[in-house]
Amino acid sequence: MRSLIFLGFLAVALEVNAQQGFVSIDCGMDGSTSYNDTVTGITYEPDAKYINSGVNYKINKTYLQAATPVQAETLRAFPNGSRNCYTIDGIIQGDKYLIRGLFFHGNYDGLTPVAFELHLGMNFWQLVNITDPSDLIWGEIITAAQDNSFSVCLVNINSGTPFISALELRHIDSTDVYIDVNQTNSLVLSDRVNMGAAAQDIRYPDDTYDRIWRFFITPTVWSDINSSQPIQTSPRDAFKVPAAVMATAVTPANDTSLGFFIGTDTRGVYYVYMHFAEFNTLSQTENRIFDVFVNDELKVSSVKPEYLLSTHISLSITSALTEVFYNLTLNSTSGSSFPPIVNAIEVYRVLPLP
Ligand SMILES: *[C@@H]1O[C@H](CO)[C@@H](O)[C@H](O)[C@H]1NC(C)=O
Ligand SMILES: *[C@@H]1O[C@H](CO)[C@@H](O)[C@H](O)[C@H]1NC(C)=O
Ligand SMILES: *[C@@H]1O[C@H](CO)[C@@H](O)[C@H](O)[C@H]1NC(C)=O
Ligand SMILES: *[C@@H]1O[C@H](CO)[C@@H](O)[C@H](O)[C@H]1NC(C)=O
Ligand SMILES: *[C@@H]1O[C@H](CO)[C@@H](O)[C@H](O)[C@H]1NC(C)=O
Ligand SMILES: *[C@@H]1O[C@H](CO)[C@@H](O)[C@H](O)[C@H]1NC(C)=O
Ligand SMILES: *[C@@H]1O[C@H](CO)[C@@H](O)[C@H](O)[C@H]1NC(C)=O
Ligand SMILES: *[C@@H]1O[C@H](CO)[C@@H](O)[C@H](O)[C@H]1NC(C)=O
Ligand SMILES: *[C@@H]1O[C@H](CO)[C@@H](O)[C@H](O)[C@H]1NC(C)=O
Repeated sequence: MRSLIFLGFLAVALEVNAQQGFVSIDCGMDGSTSYNDTVTGITYEPDAKYINSGVNYKINKTYLQAATPVQAETLRAFPNGSRNCYTIDGIIQGDKYLIRGLFFHGNYDGLTPVAFELHLGMNFWQLVNITDPSDLIWGEIITAAQDNSFSVCLVNINSGTPFISALELRHIDSTDVYIDVNQTNSLVLSDRVNMGAAAQDIRYPDDTYDRIWRFFITPTVWSDINSSQPIQTSPRDAFKVPAAVMATAVTPANDTSLGFFIGTDTRGVYYVYMHFAEFNTLSQTENRIFDVFVNDELKVSSVKPEYLLSTHISLSITSALTEVFYNLTLNSTSGSSFPPIVNAIEVYRVLPLP
């Protein structure tokens, strides 16, 4: 009995500690009281102390769906000024941070489409383009802090009133993670998908950095597979993909090839990170080996996922044009006994920061 109480106390203490380095702002929320999100347990605060312009609105609740986060119910809109900024202080210069905005229009003013730009300080980060009031849009960047504060700005481009529903900042307290992010390069998220999983996104507390792993609907020509045993992560693993994400994967139902489309919204360099783990105990004579192609170009040869251990590859695509689709293909090598698998895929656009 005593040990149970002790364990309960320890779990609470760890959870409080784990949210250190999180700033979670529910934009457009009235009052000064924080609340705990019932899904993630993350504590959100109102935005008044981070900005002094704009107007608070509530969305039209007709547009809410079961999975819409509660932060989407209010927003702050900026009818005046070409540039309105949130300032977040207490940043450790040189450290890496994940910064994410949530945009849910919910027909609050009856005026869609709307488009505006997101800037990080003086630098363009991405376009937010909302064509349907029920679109739930996240804008996410992983960046190294140039200063001891971040300024996240909404910039009016004469295509409607900029607004924001939530703003989240997560300190990445390890230099081994996101080694491709440095003082000159940030990464803007294109997509981050979890394969073979139940119809539910995975984020904090499964992911200590609160990355959101979107579930990917498995096409009928693939099969979902999962591991009953936990997938391990090496101590210096540069990705730290949550065990819950690594526990599921897809494989072709009756083929030796897995194919994906990767869309580029802007021209530039894209990094693709793929995460794998072998679920089967393979005999001495069995193996699972595959090559990875982009269109017809071989990018990574002879990928061999490790048994119950997170295994990663990365590759880059240089897109000379906007809105191009690339074919990412995983094909078994001729000597492979098993078809390819994949547990999760992340795609980022490199954003050079002057
Ligand atoms: C919110 O959660 C924190 C721990 O994460 C806890 O200390 C606090 O009491 C909770 N607040 C409410 C209002 O439940
Ligand atoms: C926007 O500007 C107009 C005209 O100057 C002013 O009447 C209005 O109060 C301003 N609104 C906000 C939210 O600042
Ligand atoms: C909310 O949206 C629905 C559907 O578009 C509409 O019928 C209703 O009038 C709206 N409510 C308000 C308060 O604007
Ligand atoms: C937003 O997307 C729509 C539909 O794809 C497009 O027609 C429009 O030009 C885009 N807006 C901007 C500002 O790029
Ligand atoms: C950042 O990374 C890029 C690509 O790896 C490299 O070319 C650049 O020199 C790095 N910048 C710094 C400041 O380390
Ligand atoms: C794991 O796979 C088994 C066998 O295919 C299936 O019955 C089970 O529902 C799966 N579990 C999860 C969590 O996907
Ligand atoms: C698998 O593919 C082969 C060759 O295309 C076909 O003959 C067979 O019926 C397929 N089996 C299933 C279960 O779809
Ligand atoms: C990509 O795959 C699609 C469908 O499999 C095919 O139609 C298209 O030609 C491929 N594109 C390239 C550039 O290989
Ligand atoms: C991958 O395998 C599929 C089916 O076996 C084949 O059609 C395709 O050409 C292969 N792709 C590459 C890039 O070799």
